[in-house]
Amino acid sequence: MKDDHTTVLARLAPEPVPRRDFLGLSALGAFVTALFLAFLGIIRLPRVVVSASPSRKFRVQLPESLQPGEPFVPPGRNVVLFRDSEGVYAISLVCTHLGCIVKPSPNGFECPCHGSRFAPDGHVIGGPAPKPLPWLAVSLEGNEVWVDGNVTVQPGTKARG
Ligand code: FES
Repeated sequence: MKDDHTTVLARLAPEPVPRRDFLGLSALGAFVTALFLAFLGIIRLPRVVVSASPSRKFRVQLPESLQPGEPFVPPGRNVVLFRDSEGVYAISLVCTHLGCIVKPSPNGFECPCHGSRFAPDGHVIGGPAPKPLPWLAVSLEGNEVWVDGNVTVQPGTKARG
């Protein structure tokens, strides 16, 4: 009777796992875990998103209240427009040093990145910018101004209505 009891207990007790089997199972578990995590990583990779940048040629309506010499930056554009007695003109706001967007200031434009300063007509008055801000082609159609950011013009070129 006692032997039967011992035999039953021996059958219920888990067999000790040999060291070699344990290491093999651990390696297999680590491999499966690594595969699973790699799969999760692939699933979570950022998807390619192609977003169209705004066209560099656009039309805009100048505010009626725009004063001569007052800068007007159309929303979402890196261009500033001015209107004076000689016409309308546009100057790029992209710094000629490393491409930051310059900000209109009382004395012209200032670059927030490395401190270049530009006169109101875009020429450099303080480096490191190597070149003036380019003037861009503009044309007038009624109350609307067409700006072509792909075409630079001589500084001083203004569109008359
Ligand atoms: S990018 Fe404007 S000064 Fe450097």
